Amino acid sequence: MDQDNREHTRILIVDDREEDREILIGILTDRYCVYQVWNGEECLKAIRKYQPHLVLLDISMPGAMDGIETLRRIREKDKRLPVIIITGVGTYERNIETYRLGASDFIAKPYDVSNIRERIEKVLVLSEQKKLNIEEHSLQKAEKEFFKKEYLNMIQALCELIELKNPYTRRHSQKVTKYAVEIAKEMRLSLEEIGQVHQSGLIHDIGKVGISDDILNKPGRLTDEEFAEIKKHPIMGIKVLKHLRLLQPEMSIVVHHHERWDGNGYPNKLQGNKIPRASRILAVADSFDAMVSTRSYRNAQPVDYAISELQRCSGTQFDPEVVEAFLSVLEKNPDIIEIDQPLELTRH
Ligand SMILES: [Fe+2]
Repeated sequence: MDQDNREHTRILIVDDREEDREILIGILTDRYCVYQVWNGEECLKAIRKYQPHLVLLDISMPGAMDGIETLRRIREKDKRLPVIIITGVGTYERNIETYRLGASDFIAKPYDVSNIRERIEKVLVLSEQKKLNIEEHSLQKAEKEFFKKEYLNMIQALCELIELKNPYTRRHSQKVTKYAVEIAKEMRLSLEEIGQVHQSGLIHDIGKVGISDDILNKPGRLTDEEFAEIKKHPIMGIKVLKHLRLLQPEMSIVVHHHERWDGNGYPNKLQGNKIPRASRILAVADSFDAMVSTRSYRNAQPVDYAISELQRCSGTQFDPEVVEAFLSVLEKNPDIIEIDQPLELTRH
């Protein structure tokens, strides 16, 4: 808004005393577009009708709706509308209450007409700056979310590419994500945390991009050296994700998805609650999907076996709370389990 030209800046004066309203009108009317009402109810109506940029509100008005009650009602609908309280003698405690309700300034009666315009102008400028900051902030936030989504899509595409190279791991990340998100919901995690579980589930094996295909796709058991190579994939994940600042929370979840509750996992041997909660959730979802899926070195295990393994390893490999939540998810919704169709492998 042009601060030199205020003819479209609307100010609402709320005061039961006509002579006091007249003083303010006399001071303001040549610069601003001024409206006046004489009680709280009329004030609320006038706000709806004229949508003022600022309200000058008398604290002492007769009837049920004094200045405090009026301000409270204004705040129920609008947290940001600047309201300057007009206060008289003996209203100190009520002033504090209005301050708590977000009053922008106080002007004392009887009026010191020399600085009223200046104080109103300051409040208006401050409110406009706040509005601009909020708009800029939400624009930046929307931009960040857009880029984060784009990064995630890109990395997810990379993960799917890795999985596609191996017929035994197709849809692994999607299945892990599905189980992990259900666990997170069952554990009543915040929406933000559920979002992080979802995103990190889809990209948790991104580090496998740095592991040789011969090892990833090897039919048969891995040697110790090959397994040591596979164990590098969480750290490789950091190498990919560290460049994407917007994915930092997901990065720390991804890097710890092979830690164990008892501290014998990798890469950092973190123990118990030191492991990010989302990583502990991914660990259970990941192991479950691995067990019930066919692998190049073994057939899919029955679901009952996978469940008994989760129970057996609860408190050693897995966080017991996560296992309990997953078992409860499976009990409520057994159809969630996705079993591989037997692969028809043809030899050439
Ligand atoms: Fe992994």
